[in-house]
Amino acid sequence: MAPALLTIENLRLSFGGEALLDDARLVIGPRARIALVGRNGSGKSTLLKIAGGLFEADRANRFVDPSATIAYLPQEPDFSGFETIGAYVEAGLPPTGATTQLARLYADLGADPEAKCGNLSGGEARRAALVRIFASDPDIMLLDEPTNHLDLPAIVALEERLSASRAAIVLISHDRRFLQNLSRTTVWLDRGKTRRIERGFIEFESWRDEILADEDREQHKLGRRIAAEEDWLRYGVTAR
Ligand SMILES: Nc1ncnc2c1ncn2[C@@H]1O[C@H](COP(=O)(O)OP(=O)(O)OP(=O)(O)O)[C@@H](O)[C@H]1O
Ligand SMILES: [Mg+2]
Repeated sequence: MAPALLTIENLRLSFGGEALLDDARLVIGPRARIALVGRNGSGKSTLLKIAGGLFEADRANRFVDPSATIAYLPQEPDFSGFETIGAYVEAGLPPTGATTQLARLYADLGADPEAKCGNLSGGEARRAALVRIFASDPDIMLLDEPTNHLDLPAIVALEERLSASRAAIVLISHDRRFLQNLSRTTVWLDRGKTRRIERGFIEFESWRDEILADEDREQHKLGRRIAAEEDWLRYGVTAR
């Protein structure tokens, strides 16, 4: 197997109380297509930010291939400090400049470089942020809710671009169809831990339900063992 472009292991983070991430792990290989899923508030965005190097964990072993470039799409892109979309996109370009045709990207994704950043709609903001990501032609794309505020034709255009991309991609999305069409690996973040299958999101629910049913059975067995121990304590007889 080709070496990973980015690896995070032994990841732990707490915002005070119980750990949000507790021994979480994310390995991104070349051309990966990873759906990162989990309940609202389970820590998906935080994990993606840590992967992108935008946020420090309490503890983590993070390794990034020194030759790999990363582009991160935040759940809420920040345009402050930029007058126009064009300026915002240019600030994200690598020093060598855009490797893809910028004009084509603007047209395909439906963004206007002249538009002022001050009063963008959700859709305009998202499309501008996506132009910035694709224009930098990164090796790794970390995308937090890329389809938010997009209409269906824009989602389809985005899906085609991502399918054709050479980049390794990690996706967080509430759009099931989008995840199903693009992912080949699923990482499930649940109660601070990550679990992974080398199958797309389409397999996720049955896999998750199996894991939860196993847990229930273990819990039940444990409950019976505890009850037996209590019997023993109470009556001095072994119930085992
Ligand atoms: N900087 C921070 N300080 C304190 N708490 C934070 C911070 N960032 C995130 N949290 C908390 O951590 C939890 C996980 O947040 P995160 O945004 O990573 O979840 P998520 O899985 O992306 O959720 P959603 O599906 O709603 O986008 C939330 O309870 C959030 O309030
Ligand atoms: Mg989030």
